[in-house]
Amino acid sequence: MSENAENAQDAQHAAVATEDRASGEILLRVSGLQKHFPIKKGLLQRQVGAVRAVDGIDFEVRSGETLGVVGESGCGKSTMGRLITRLLEPTAGRIEFEGKDITHLGVGGMRPLRRDVQMIFQDPYSSLNPRHTIGSIVGAPFRLQGVEPEGGVKKEVQRLLSVVGLSPEHYNRYPHEFSGGQRQRIGIARALALKPKLVVADEPVSALDVSIQAQVVNLLDDLQQELGLTYVIIAHDLSVVRHVSDRIAVMYLGKVVELADRDSLYRAPMHPYTKALMSAVPIPDPRRKNAKSERILLQGDVPSPISPPSGCRFHTRCWKATEVCRTTEPALVELKPGQRVACHHPENFEDQAPQDTVLLSAAKEAAELVSEEALAKSAETSAAVAAEVAEPTKPTEPAKPTAPAEVAEAAEAAEPAEPAESAEPDETPEAAASVASDEPAASQDTGAEGRKPAGEGGVTPEA
Ligand SMILES: Nc1ncnc2c1ncn2[C@@H]1O[C@H](COP(=O)(O)OP(=O)(O)OP(=O)(O)O)[C@@H](O)[C@H]1O
Ligand code: SF4
Ligand SMILES: [Mg+2]
Repeated sequence: MSENAENAQDAQHAAVATEDRASGEILLRVSGLQKHFPIKKGLLQRQVGAVRAVDGIDFEVRSGETLGVVGESGCGKSTMGRLITRLLEPTAGRIEFEGKDITHLGVGGMRPLRRDVQMIFQDPYSSLNPRHTIGSIVGAPFRLQGVEPEGGVKKEVQRLLSVVGLSPEHYNRYPHEFSGGQRQRIGIARALALKPKLVVADEPVSALDVSIQAQVVNLLDDLQQELGLTYVIIAHDLSVVRHVSDRIAVMYLGKVVELADRDSLYRAPMHPYTKALMSAVPIPDPRRKNAKSERILLQGDVPSPISPPSGCRFHTRCWKATEVCRTTEPALVELKPGQRVACHHPENFEDQAPQDTVLLSAAKEAAELVSEEALAKSAETSAAVAAEVAEPTKPTEPAKPTAPAEVAEAAEAAEPAEPAESAEPDETPEAAASVASDEPAASQDTGAEGRKPAGEGGVTPEA
C-alpha cells in the first residue's frame, strides 16, 4: 500500500474512532460552574473581593472520549479539574455525573463516587508520600474504600504495577528510588486501582523530560483503549493536547471560549484567542506553511481574575476587538456543528456583530506578528515534541535505581513541607474539612494573582 493510501486509511480510522467516542453517552455535564476564592483582609478577616478562578463554564464529557483543556497559566484549568473531581466546593453551578447531581455532595455522599472519578496530578515528586512504600501508596484506595480485590491487595497492586510498565518487585520500594516518569506511572497505577470511569489528569507530563513525556502519553493512550477510560487532560502544551484529545476546550480567564473537536479546532480555530495560542506554537503543518501573516503573538499577561475586563474578557488583548466587545459578553454558542465559540467577530465565520466596527486601538496594539526567528525556534521545539509523541514507544523505562545525588535531590523535593496529594484526598479529616469549608486558602490575606492553592488545594497526604 502506498504511503498516501496508508495515511488516508489512518485518517479514516482516526475519524471513525473520534466519531465513536463523540457519540458516547454523556458521563459528566457541567453547567454554569463557578469557583470564586474569597480574598479576606484585616483583623476581622472581612471579604474584600474574590478571585474568579472559574466563572461560569459549561461543557460535557462523553464516555470513552478525551477532552483536552488548554489555556495560559492562571486561567482556571486546575481549579476546573479540582471542581469536577469535587476536591473543591463550587461557588455556583451544577456538576452531573452519570445524570446524578454531585455538585454539593458531602464526604459520605462522595465516597462511592471516589471510585469512579480519579485525578492524576502534575508533580510526580510531591504527589507521592516519601514515607510510604509503593505497595502502600498504590494499595491505599483499596484500604480507604474498604475494597478487597480478588486475590488480595498485594497481588492486585503488583498487577497494577505491571499494567503501568513497572515491575511487581517495586512493591516494597520507596518513591525516592524512582525517576520522574516512573513516579508518574505509580500515580497512574494508584488512580486506576479502583477501575475509575473518569480520570482527570492535571498537566500529567509537564514536569517530565520530553522523551519520558511521550512514554507517559502513550501509556495513558493504551490504558484508555484497554480499560475504556474517559479522560479530561489539562495541559498547556498544545502538541500533547493535540495528540491525546478527541475534543478540546480552550479556557481564558475562568471561561471556556471555544470548545470543538480536535481537527476542527486545529484546522479552523474560530476564537481569536485559540488562533493566537495555536499560532504562537506553530505545529509543522504544510497547509499552514504560507500563513505567516496569520501568526500572532499575544502581548502582556492574562488580566487579573479578581477584576476581569468587562464584556469579552479577551478584549484587552484581541486585535479584532470593537466597542461591542468591551460592553457585551459574548455567549458560548454553536456556530458550526460541534464547534462552540464565545466571540462577536469569530475567525473563519461571518461576523456576529458586523454593525459595530470601531476597533479598540488598545486591543490592536496588544497583538504583534511574531518574528521569523522566534517562529523558527518555536517550530523546532514543537517538532521535537511532536516527533517524540508520535513515536510509538512502549512503557519501557528501566527500573534501575537513580544515582545517589539524584536520589537525595528527589527525596528533598518530595519532602512535603505542605501535605502531598493522595488519590483519596478528602477521605482524611483535614481534607474533608478543606472541601467542606471552602478551602483554607480562602482566609488568607492574598494579592491572589498568580497564587497557587495551599498544598495544591489543601489536599492531604497519603493516608
Ligand atoms: N486556593 C486558592 N486561593 C486563592 N486563589 C486561588 C486558589 N487556587 C487558585 N487560585 C487562583 O485562581 C486562578 C486560577 O488558578 P488555576 O491554578 O486554576 O490556574 P491554571 O490555569 O491551572 O494555571 P497553571 O497553568 O499555571 O497551572 C489563579 O489566579 C490562581 O492564583
Ligand atoms: S473579537 Fe471581540 S468578542 Fe471576539 S475575542 Fe476579540 S474581543 Fe472578544
Ligand atoms: Mg494548573
